[in-house]
Amino acid sequence: MAREGRTASTTLTAGQLARARSNASTPNPVTADPVLEDRFFRQMVAHMRTGVVAIRRDGRLAVMNDVAYRVLGLAPNPADLGRPYAEVLHDYPEVTRVLQQVFESSSLPNRAEMRLRKTGRAIGFTISHINDDNGRVVGATFFFKDLTRVEQEEERDRLRDRLAALGEMAAAIAHEVKNPLASIEVMSGVLKRQMTDREEALEILNDIIKEAKMANSIVVEVLEFVRPIQLQVERVVLDDVIKDSITLAEGKRRRGEVTIKTDLDSDVPELLADPHQLRQLFSNLLANAFEALGGEGHVDITGRLELDDLDTESPDAEPEPPKVIVEVRDTGPGMSSDDLERIFSPFFTTKPQGTGLGLAIVRKVVDAHEGKIKASSVPGEGATFQVTLPVVPSERSMGR
Ligand SMILES: Nc1ncnc2c1ncn2[C@@H]1O[C@H](COP(=O)(O)OP(=O)(O)OP(=O)(O)O)[C@@H](O)[C@H]1O
Ligand SMILES: [Mg+2]
Repeated sequence: MAREGRTASTTLTAGQLARARSNASTPNPVTADPVLEDRFFRQMVAHMRTGVVAIRRDGRLAVMNDVAYRVLGLAPNPADLGRPYAEVLHDYPEVTRVLQQVFESSSLPNRAEMRLRKTGRAIGFTISHINDDNGRVVGATFFFKDLTRVEQEEERDRLRDRLAALGEMAAAIAHEVKNPLASIEVMSGVLKRQMTDREEALEILNDIIKEAKMANSIVVEVLEFVRPIQLQVERVVLDDVIKDSITLAEGKRRRGEVTIKTDLDSDVPELLADPHQLRQLFSNLLANAFEALGGEGHVDITGRLELDDLDTESPDAEPEPPKVIVEVRDTGPGMSSDDLERIFSPFFTTKPQGTGLGLAIVRKVVDAHEGKIKASSVPGEGATFQVTLPVVPSERSMGR
C-alpha cells in the first residue's frame, strides 16, 4: 500500500503543482489531453479510500480529500486549500509536528502509526516527498488510514486468546477439585449421621457440608464458563428474551422494589441468535443491576436498530451489517474507572460471595455472537452496559 501511495503521489502532484504554479500548458508525458489528465487525477485523489493531505514546501495546503476530512473529524471546506496547513490542522499537533519535519529529512515515516489526541483514533500513515521535474522537493503527501477498527479487532483477538488459555487452566483445576470436594461432602454426611448425639460436632459438620456445596457450585460455574459455546441459532424476538431474562434474574438475585422499564424501538427486527445464551447474557446483567441496587432503584432497558453509517466510524472500511444495540442501565452506585477496566476479567469481583464470572460469561456470549459489549459508569449515578449484536451473525459464528 505504501508503495502504491508513493507512486501515485509523485505522478499526481508533480504534474499538478508544476502546472498550477506556472499556469503553462506543460506537455504531458502520459496523455495528450492535459485537462482530462488533471480531472482524472483530481477524481482519483478525491475517491481514494485513504486519507490524503498534500502540502507545498511553503507550508500551504495543496490537497485534502474527503476521507482525510472525515477521519480527522473536520468539515470539508474548499477554502482550506492554499491556507497554511498548520492552521487547518491546528487541532492535530501530532500531524503538524510530523509534517514540519518532512523537508528536513530524507528518511520519511513509512507505515507508521500515531494516535490523534483529539479524537482518540489511531491512524496508520506514510509520507512521501513530491518532486518536480528537476527532482527538487516541492511538497509532501501524507497518506493515512483509520486503524480504530483494526485495533479493536486485535484487542478482541488478544483477549480471546488470553481467555482461552485461562479457561484451559481453570478447567483442569476445576476437574481436579471436583472429586475430592464430592468426597468431602459425602463423607461429612456419613459422619453426621453417626454423630446424632454430639451437637457441637454436628454444627461443624453442617458448616463443612455448606462450604463444600458452595465450593462445588463455584466449580460448576467455572466449568460452565470454560465450556466452548456451541450456538444454537434460531429466530429470536428480543422482547421475549428480555422478559425471560428478567424472570431468570429474579430467580438468581433479590429484586426487591427495583422498577424496570423496557423500551424497544418498533423497528428492532428478529435476531438470528441463540436464545438460551442471550437469556444468560441479559439475566447476568440484570442480576448485577439488582445486586448493585440493593432492593431499590430503577433499571432501564432500551433497544434500537443501527444501520451502518459510513460517514462516521471508519469511512474507509467495508460497510457493517445491521446491528441491534441493547442498553441495560441502572441507577445504582456505579463503578470506579479502575474497576470498569477489570469487570470482564474472569474472577474479578467486589462482592464477598461473588465468583466474578457473571460478566466473563456475558462477554463470552457476546463474542460467540460476534457482538460487542461496552460498560460505562458515573460513580454514584449508576452503570450502563451496552450490548451490540449483529441482526444476522456470520456463517462462521453460526458454525462455530
Ligand atoms: N451494574 C453494576 N453496578 C455496579 N457494579 C457492577 C455492576 N455490574 C458489575 N459490577 C461490578 O463488576 C464486578 C464483576 O461482575 P460479575 O458479574 O462478573 O461478577 P460478580 O457479580 O461479582 O459475581 P458473579 O459471578 O456472582 O456474577 C462486580 O463484582 C461489581 O463490582
Ligand atoms: Mg454478577
